[in-house]
Amino acid sequence: MMNIFWLKMDLKGISLFGFVCGLAFFLQIATADLSYSVPEESRPGFIVGNIAKDLGLDASNLFTRKARIDTEEVSQHYCEIDLKTGNLVVRARVDREELCGDKISCMVKFELVLESPLELHRISLLIQDVNDNSPIFPKETVNLEIRESADKGAKYRVSEAHDVDVGQNTVKDYILQSNEHFVLSIRDNNDGSKSVELLLDKELDREKEHDLHLMLIAVDGGNPQRSGTANIHVTVLDANDNAPVFDQATYKASIPENAAVDTVVITVSASDADEGINGEVTYEFSRISERAKKIFSLDTKTGEIKVIGSLDYESNSKYEMRIDAKDGYGLSSDSKLVIDITDVNDNAPVIYMKSLMNPILENIFPGTEVGIINVQDRDSDTNGQIHCSVQQNVPFKLVPSIKNYYSLVTTGQLDRELVSDYNITISATDEGSPPLSSSKTVHLSVADINDNPPVFEEQSYSAYVTENNKPGSTLCSVTARDPDWRQNGTVIYSLLPGEVNGASVSSYLSVNGDTGVIHAVRSFDYEQFKNFKVNVMARDNGSPPLSSNVTVSVFISDVNDNSPQILYPSSDRNSFMTELVPKAAHGGSLVSKVIAVDADSGQNAWLSYQIVSSTDPGLFTIGVHSGEIRTQRDISESDSMKQNLVVAVKDNGQPPLSTTCSMYLIISDNLAEVTELKE
Ligand SMILES: *[C@@H]1O[C@H](CO)[C@@H](O)[C@H](O)[C@H]1NC(C)=O
Ligand SMILES: *[C@@H]1O[C@H](CO)[C@@H](O)[C@H](O)[C@H]1NC(C)=O
Ligand SMILES: *[C@@H]1O[C@H](CO)[C@@H](O)[C@H](O)[C@H]1NC(C)=O
Repeated sequence: MMNIFWLKMDLKGISLFGFVCGLAFFLQIATADLSYSVPEESRPGFIVGNIAKDLGLDASNLFTRKARIDTEEVSQHYCEIDLKTGNLVVRARVDREELCGDKISCMVKFELVLESPLELHRISLLIQDVNDNSPIFPKETVNLEIRESADKGAKYRVSEAHDVDVGQNTVKDYILQSNEHFVLSIRDNNDGSKSVELLLDKELDREKEHDLHLMLIAVDGGNPQRSGTANIHVTVLDANDNAPVFDQATYKASIPENAAVDTVVITVSASDADEGINGEVTYEFSRISERAKKIFSLDTKTGEIKVIGSLDYESNSKYEMRIDAKDGYGLSSDSKLVIDITDVNDNAPVIYMKSLMNPILENIFPGTEVGIINVQDRDSDTNGQIHCSVQQNVPFKLVPSIKNYYSLVTTGQLDRELVSDYNITISATDEGSPPLSSSKTVHLSVADINDNPPVFEEQSYSAYVTENNKPGSTLCSVTARDPDWRQNGTVIYSLLPGEVNGASVSSYLSVNGDTGVIHAVRSFDYEQFKNFKVNVMARDNGSPPLSSNVTVSVFISDVNDNSPQILYPSSDRNSFMTELVPKAAHGGSLVSKVIAVDADSGQNAWLSYQIVSSTDPGLFTIGVHSGEIRTQRDISESDSMKQNLVVAVKDNGQPPLSTTCSMYLIISDNLAEVTELKE
């Protein structure tokens, strides 16, 4: 096989800088056009070239950069990239003739797409012809009827052979089996076709032979060479005959691609000067492609050409064929017919998502490129001019890039906590009349960033507890909310270190990390402290975590757990105390005072005094609130010298607590008397 690979590299790095909403963005579509060529019919796995090397890419990055080959049409996915080596390899067999018909140059275009950063390279692949088709004559047997009077030098047309291959693989030459009467005459026409004629070299004689059988061979220029054969059957006549003549050497017609079946394209006409059977002209296609045969019919009698199949401007915009006109004796001439198909806006634009960053982080800058879109419309001119847009209410827009490519960029700040996903509808409309449009919806999720600290529901918390509580009892609970996702929004509570009365807060309180419920660690004593403050932190589980702090004030309320305590008279046995009451004391005189305190507070410490027993009831009274002991009447001589009182001191708690004390009074003016009594 010939070495027919060629490589053309034309690097065109296109970098577009732009300004959106005052923020810079950078569009990373780099285009470098690569061209390769491959012989048709190459087997799958055949290496076309090494893309990585030709683009200067590191082959080991191809996998992580998700390198892939994208084609506009799935049916044209002929190649793929080997991610290990960077080789462009054949994926499916290509038949050049099927793909491109008789086009001289058969080119397939596709793209190499790379991600992070996004990169696009356009690649064109030239499908080279291989000599896989032989020349074929329109008819295996050619019947010629020639009058015996024909002069030496007369020419008789034979339809040329056709080879669907192109270039040098197409028909190159003709060989006529050697015979007595005819030689070949080949002429090249302006349009590239050949006129093949038999030239009468030695006159015919009907009396000697009325039939001649000759073999005409067409060979192509391929290697190995292929050939096709036609049998020429010459009948020698003695009639006079004229060949039919077309009224135009070339017919031209044009028809819109949406023409219905049975539409008449054109009518060809040839006239024959003869009368009767000799002048009866019939038409037939002498050279027509397989494709055209399925689309056009030729009425053999009228020369009317009609549409019988469906036309498609996009797959074939021009048909060329040759038509033979023949008379009853088989004399013929030919003409060329060119049918131009005109475009109709029959293809809606098609939107291809070339690349999409999904999910996108909520903290990306406005103007960040999140996807690349390619829009194709198979129609031509204005029918294929496209406008693209996205709907109004999303923070995304399309920025045109290289031809038919758009970048999908953000136009504002995203916030997952407000909108966590978007359905972005991209619409494309062409400029045809009427215009055709299509749309595609892409779904984009917004990924979380730990951008919200937990927030407590209250600015501060208060807990109320009565003293003597059980250790472990619940005091209150705190709650903080964090709208972030999963661990970024998971709240964990803890006590911040601190001291209360010189001891660590953790010896007083504990907080449940998951629920925020605060428990007492010990029993509180109101008489020790009435309130204290602790700080609780709520933090999320993000990395790094975010936190908030809140103050929890704990108020302890009093319980009547302390009995009144009598300070005077002292209960100390050793300092046995007596009060001296002068004999001359009048009613209402202050003789002593019981002094008591209560460690509790409020009602629990509100004391009242009462005499519960006395030597001489009626002689002394006690102030209910003051504890002052006074004489109720004047002292008289008959009053006993020793007077004992038992006083109860009671608080106002529920239930009340009380304490009693004894008070010893001596009615006397003589201190010596008292000392005596004491002893
Ligand atoms: C996007 O479309 C999907 C499927 O139609 C739907 O389930 C989802 O709710 C849509 N989301 C938004 C944000 O409109
Ligand atoms: C939490 O936020 C961090 C960035 O702050 C992000 O990388 C991570 O993916 C987030 N986690 C989840 C579960 O979304
Ligand atoms: C909460 O308090 C801790 C300890 O004082 C401190 O490290 C942290 O930064 C505080 N957090 C906030 C949100 O103020």
